[in-house]
Amino acid sequence: MDYFNSLTATSVVVIIAFPLLFLFSFLWLSRRNTNSKKTVPEAGGAWPIIGHLRLLGGPQPPQISLANLADKYGRMFTIKLGVRRALVVSNWEIAKECLTIHDKALATRPKAVAMELLSYNHAMIATAPYGTYWRQMRKFIIIELLSNHRLNLLKHVRESEVNTSLQQLYQLWNKKKSSNSDKVLVEMKRWFRDVTLNVILMMVVGKRIPNSYEGVETVEWKKSVDEFFELGAKFVTADAFPFLRWLDIGGEEKRMKKVSKELDQLVEGWLREHKEKIAENEANSEEDFMGVMLTKLRDVEEHDANTINKATNLSLVLGGEDTTSITMTWALALLLNNRDALNKVQQELDSHVGKDKLLVTESDAKNLVYLQAIIKETLRLYPAAPLSVTHEAIEDYTVNGYNISAGTWLIFNLHKIHRDPHIWTNPNEFRPERFMATHKDFDVRGQNFELIPFGSGRRMCLGVSFALQVLQLTLANVLHWFEFETRHQTKQSICVKHQD
Ligand code: HEM
Repeated sequence: MDYFNSLTATSVVVIIAFPLLFLFSFLWLSRRNTNSKKTVPEAGGAWPIIGHLRLLGGPQPPQISLANLADKYGRMFTIKLGVRRALVVSNWEIAKECLTIHDKALATRPKAVAMELLSYNHAMIATAPYGTYWRQMRKFIIIELLSNHRLNLLKHVRESEVNTSLQQLYQLWNKKKSSNSDKVLVEMKRWFRDVTLNVILMMVVGKRIPNSYEGVETVEWKKSVDEFFELGAKFVTADAFPFLRWLDIGGEEKRMKKVSKELDQLVEGWLREHKEKIAENEANSEEDFMGVMLTKLRDVEEHDANTINKATNLSLVLGGEDTTSITMTWALALLLNNRDALNKVQQELDSHVGKDKLLVTESDAKNLVYLQAIIKETLRLYPAAPLSVTHEAIEDYTVNGYNISAGTWLIFNLHKIHRDPHIWTNPNEFRPERFMATHKDFDVRGQNFELIPFGSGRRMCLGVSFALQVLQLTLANVLHWFEFETRHQTKQSICVKHQD
């Protein structure tokens, strides 16, 4: 009877457990199968062999072509760039998942040809692979140059450079105005570029350049800088087909090597001067960032100290100048096409700074909430890096339920993310007021993923505080000193608001 009972009990267990086990195994296997098959949709329109490569080469800006694909293929899709595959993210929730949960898995950069040739073989921080070298350099730059503490100590450099540039603009107006008109044509894009360059150059190498906004370039190397940006954004044939690299189709590698040599000669000159001054005891070695690097840096496994010094200083000048001055140019262009906003910010300046005070200081700029709203709205509509900087997956990961394999590139379409109609009413319109009402608590420092002009996570822009300071200070002053009008498509005319 016991035997019977125990047999029955065993049978019961088997009878119940076996189908359950079978069911769970089936569910687990089928889930695993579905998971492994769940791949992100690939955008249509790929050409044989080259894939979607032509989308990135114009005639439309790539962020617009990719935004059009997002309307068709959804919040995330892949594109093929020859033998490479890139995931394009056009939605803030997915961007958030990538830059929080998967931030580490996505923290490296692709080894593109442009990045290798133009960035001292990835010694520049923005292109360095994720690892010890990148981590140490990022920490070093923040502690020695871009921390809030260091930036406060360098406040006088920013204020004095902006002041000098304003005086020069005023002198230009004074010289050029005629008895018939007090309006003078100035290419403000160049003026913004010169101010930004001078602030950064003073901080990193203790130098400034002469003005170029009278229409003539004053330093030859700016042409190499322009070429650097043109080529740096290039995805060359060898990126899509590494085995064809030796052919250098289109001759772009040759151009990259030439530009990189020109820029290296420039920075090599700065470095030589620093070394000579230190040797002759003419300068305090820690007067600027290059001097600090000379005393504190040593060779590391990947690169020698001289290369690190040149690559880092050049990357700060290049990375900071273009992005910040482009944003100021957009802000002014948007204000000129939205006169109400222009009047409003000038009223804010009059009431907070006052017509009698000429120079707006950084402490004044902190209280200009409408100006800050204008800057946020400009960065929302026209982020200086509309496709951010490409990341690459170090390992396999699953995002939004889809499997992505290691080696896949990741492109954040900030242009599209920032114009999501679920988040922003009339997303294509310039409305700074939204940052004083519905989006009052929105910041641009990587905490609100709906607005990430500086990125977020481990590889987030490390110049964010500095950029915001320069943007606020320069725009506040130029709007306080001058009146603006549009003349031609690319130029603004100015007349002075305050007398000296
Ligand atoms: C309006 C101005 C600026 C904008 C919109 C901007 C935007 C960005 C973006 C989108 C990234 C890529 C983030 C990512 O990979 O997820 C980046 C990276 C970077 N930015 Fe900026 N940036 C600006 C100004 C500056 C300035 C002034 C500096 C330095 C002086 C700077 C230095 C860098 C560096 C070094 C990186 C690479 C960080 C890394 O790879 O670890 N940026 N920036």
